Amino acid sequence: NDIRGCSRGSLIVLEGLDRSGKTSQCGNLLAYLQGKGFSVEAWQFPDRSTSVGKMISAYLANESQLDDRTIHLLFSANRWEKRALMENKLKSGTTLIVDRYSYSGVAFSAAKGLNIEWCKAPEVGLIAPDVVVYLDVPPEKAAERGGYGLEKYEQLDFQGKVAEHYHNLLDSSWEIVDGSQSIESVERQLKDLAMHSILTCQRGKPLTNLWS
Ligand code: TYD
Repeated sequence: NDIRGCSRGSLIVLEGLDRSGKTSQCGNLLAYLQGKGFSVEAWQFPDRSTSVGKMISAYLANESQLDDRTIHLLFSANRWEKRALMENKLKSGTTLIVDRYSYSGVAFSAAKGLNIEWCKAPEVGLIAPDVVVYLDVPPEKAAERGGYGLEKYEQLDFQGKVAEHYHNLLDSSWEIVDGSQSIESVERQLKDLAMHSILTCQRGKPLTNLWS
């Protein structure tokens, strides 16, 4: 345990295709870390509770049409509107487990054909995750899992393109976890990665910004 009392929380991001199992793993990890006595919250993007989030939600449900660049910037704005709160939480010692972040923003928009650098630009200056866990599941396998819902991006050929773009975004903060393993095995690896990241932050790893 930290004795300095001023250590920061860790920003842990989970990324993956639709139906990769991210969302239930986020829930499990939250319960595990809470059980260990850590101050921790689970967040997700898009955050559909804000007014920007409601526009995104309507778009995803095919209830509204938006130009590709417009929706891209809304997804980004949805992260910017949470940035200050995110920084406060982390600095006050709360660890955040975040289901999707800027990498989803870039991978999904680039899969539509938008330029990658253009897609990254509005993300520059958001808080950089301490660890990004990519739950790696082949698109075919993800599609089999209970089938896709009715949302905009839940189609096999599109998800294949998203997977390619995710792989282009890999950097040293990424940990790839084979999402085809048993739920228990994925869970174990996630716990280890999260604990390692939390300890590194407690020892004074500085907060940095994305892609700058
Ligand atoms: P999400 O709410 O995680 O999906 P669900 O809870 O329905 O599984 O994300 C909705 C979709 O939005 C998902 O297909 C990924 C996509 N997305 C983007 O295109 N850009 C972004 O910046 C984010 C965060 C998500």
